[in-house]
This record gives sequence, C-alpha cells and structure tokens, in this order.
Amino acid sequence: MIRSANKKTLLITGGAGFIGSHVVRKFVKSYPQYHIYNLDALTYAGNLENLKDIEDYPNYTFIKGDILDVALISEIFYKYRFDGIIHLAAESHVDRSIDEPLAFVKTNVLGTVNLLNAAKNLWQDTTQGCRFYHISTDEVYGTLGKDGLFSETTAYDPNSPYSASKASSDHFVRAYGETFGLPYVISNCSNNYGPNHFPEKLIPLFINNIMENKALPVYGDGKYTRDWLFVKDHAKAIDLVFHNGKNQETYNIGGFNEWQNIDLVKLLCKMMDQKLNKPEGTSQRLITFIADRPGHDLRYAIDASKINKELGWKPSVTFEEGLEKTIDWYLDNQEWLANVTSGDYKDYYKKMYK
Ligand code: NAD
Ligand code: DAU
Repeated sequence: MIRSANKKTLLITGGAGFIGSHVVRKFVKSYPQYHIYNLDALTYAGNLENLKDIEDYPNYTFIKGDILDVALISEIFYKYRFDGIIHLAAESHVDRSIDEPLAFVKTNVLGTVNLLNAAKNLWQDTTQGCRFYHISTDEVYGTLGKDGLFSETTAYDPNSPYSASKASSDHFVRAYGETFGLPYVISNCSNNYGPNHFPEKLIPLFINNIMENKALPVYGDGKYTRDWLFVKDHAKAIDLVFHNGKNQETYNIGGFNEWQNIDLVKLLCKMMDQKLNKPEGTSQRLITFIADRPGHDLRYAIDASKINKELGWKPSVTFEEGLEKTIDWYLDNQEWLANVTSGDYKDYYKKMYK
C-alpha cells in the first residue's frame, strides 16, 4: 500500500492522451499534496486541449518529451526524484500497429524499458514508498471463444503487433520486479470509451461519422465482442490500484459489459438519432460492412472480481448512461473534434478506409 496522505512526486506518462488525461485530472484534483508531472510526446493522439481546465493548477507540470529519449528521462528522474510512476504512454491503436509494427515496439517496449531503467537507478538505495504502475490491456490474453473470461492467471497469447508489444512490456515490468526488486503493479483493462477519445477508435469514430453523415465501417460480420468501460471508472480504478494495490500483483479491470460490435453500433445509431432529432433508422442506414481486420480477436471479457473483492471497485455508470455522457460531450465539443480531424487525420482516414 502507498499512503496517500504523504507528499508525493508522481510521473504520469501519456497524460495528454485519452485515458491519461482523465488520470492526470483525477490525481491533480484529488491529491493537492502531490506534484504531478505529465510527460507526453504529443503524438497525433496527445492533445493538451484535454487538460485545459487543470493546466494552471500549482501541483501540475507538463513536460513535452519522448519516453525513447534516454537523456531526457535520466535528467527528469534525477531532477524531480519521482516516487511513483503511472505509465500510460503508448501507441494504442490496433489498426495502426498492423500498418507500422515497429513504432509499437519502439514506444511500447523500448520506451517502457527506458522508464524501468530510470526507476531502478533512482530507487537503488531504497524502494520504500516507491511504485512503478504499468497500465496495460486485456488484449495481451489473446482472444476468447464464446464462453469464459480473462482472469489475472490467463496465459498471455497476443495476436496483434499492438498486443504483442503490450505483452512484452508487461513481461519487462515483471522481470524488473523479479530481478531487481523493483516494486510494481500492473493492471490490464478492457475497452474504454468516453470524452476525449481519439476518433480512430470505434465509438468516437462512429459518433463523428454520424455527425458528418458518413458511412459507418463495420469490420467483417460485426459479431466481435468487446467489454466496454467508461473511462472515468478506469481512472478511479487506477487511483485505487496505485494507492491500495499490492506490490508485484496484477489487477484485471473490466466493465462487466459485453457487446457485439453490431449491437453496440445499432444502439449508438438509435441514441444519435434521438440527440440529433432525426427519424429513427436514419443513422443505421449508414452501416457498411467492410473487409475484416487481419488477426481480429473474436471476444474480450474480463473477470474483474479480484479488484472488486480486494479494492472494492466496480463501474459506477451503466453503458447507456456512459454512452449518453459520451455523445453529449462530443456534441458539446465539436471544436475539439474539428481540430483533431483536420490535417493528418484526413490522410489516415483515406489510407485506412480507402
Ligand atoms: P492514446 O493513444 O489516447 O494516448 C497515448 C498518449 O501517449 C498520447 O498522449 C501520446 O502523445 C503519448 N505518447 C505516445 N508515444 C509516446 C512516446 N514515445 N513518448 C511519450 N508519450 C507518448 O492511448 P489511450 O487509449 O489513452 O491508452 C493509454 C494506455 O492505456 C496505453 O498504454 C494503452 O495500451 C492502455 N489501454 C488502453 C485502453 C483503451 O481502451 N483505450 C484499454 C486498456 C489499456
Ligand atoms: O481491449 C482494450 C483495447 O481496446 C486497448 O488496449 C486498445 O488500446 C484500444 O484501442 C481497444 O482496442 P480494440 O481494437 O478493441 O478497439 P477499436 O475501437 O479499434 O475496435 C473495437 C471493435 O470495433 C473491434 O472489434 C474492431 C471494430 N471496429 C473498429 C474500427 C476502428 C470496426 O468494426 N470498425 C472500425 O472502423
């Protein structure tokens, strides 16, 4: 356990991204006695607009930098002497990993090892009160058939370059724990959704396309299943695991909320028709089945009973409530959407969806 009443200096990586921005906000607001350093390279997925409301808080500092930059990492670890690291920086999109696997090896594997080395060096005299928290994904477990759930003891069996890189980074974190005694925790979470989600992922992509009256590209037959969790509930789980989780342990986090893609898309279409005052069925007509994703995992579903029993965590919103909050956020933040879908996004979209 890491006591939260004490002063702490925390490094959060990838804090300008989707989940990272919710985690940074939560920590900055909940722990005024901590100082939060957010290290982010501001790739296409990083956006400081996500953190506008907290950028002037006295306990928050943004550092623009790459986790592949060993000199910079050494410098900031030496200068700020972090006692906690919450590592979210990653290349996170499966389709991009099929297009450019090496970028995923570099950031997700090498970048993680750079941070592990810096933590190991900084904490060589004492690891008391220190913790390296690695944020990972359920995709490391591969795919489920129709039945069963991923638990913390499910064997790793990654199928995409993205999940292989995340599995590798998980292994490095554990190896540093075993070999060098580095205190760590890992959590493996299911699909997140919510405000600030970059519109390359299913839900925000489809909200944006419905708003623009564009086709909704469903891969294959649409019968793939994901377990969806509202991003703010993930941020709450991360807070609990960071403070109350046990060292050298893994926690699975999930929404108890499985949906086949096609059913989710139909629900989203119905809710969007209501929000946009369109006759029911309007958005559903945009659904277009397209070629499948190579190596597409059939089903993910998490057994989140360990975090529930040990740390008392469970999702706080239903899927319908979370989806409504998400849709409302996108309708209220069209400038955010317009900014992130201009420029490079247009080339990405053309390349991916021809
Ligand atoms: P994201 O793509 O929205 O954000 C990633 C952030 O990392 C961006 O701000 C980006 O600028 C930054 N970044 C990328 N490469 C970097 C580098 N080399 N140096 C420094 N910063 C860099 O990702 P996300 O969806 O918020 O995911 C965050 C983490 O959570 C990832 O580790 C991901 O694997 C994991 N995760 C995501 C989900 C999900 O559903 N999105 C689910 C489970 C786990
Ligand atoms: O499970 C956790 C993972 O969830 C995270 O580790 C990843 O970072 C995150 O991107 C997400 O991966 P998925 O591949 O499951 O998410 P995505 O939103 O890309 O796709 C969700 C499902 O929707 C999947 O079955 C593929 C399908 N899909 C996706 C897109 C982008 C489509 O049918 N059409 C699309 O255009």
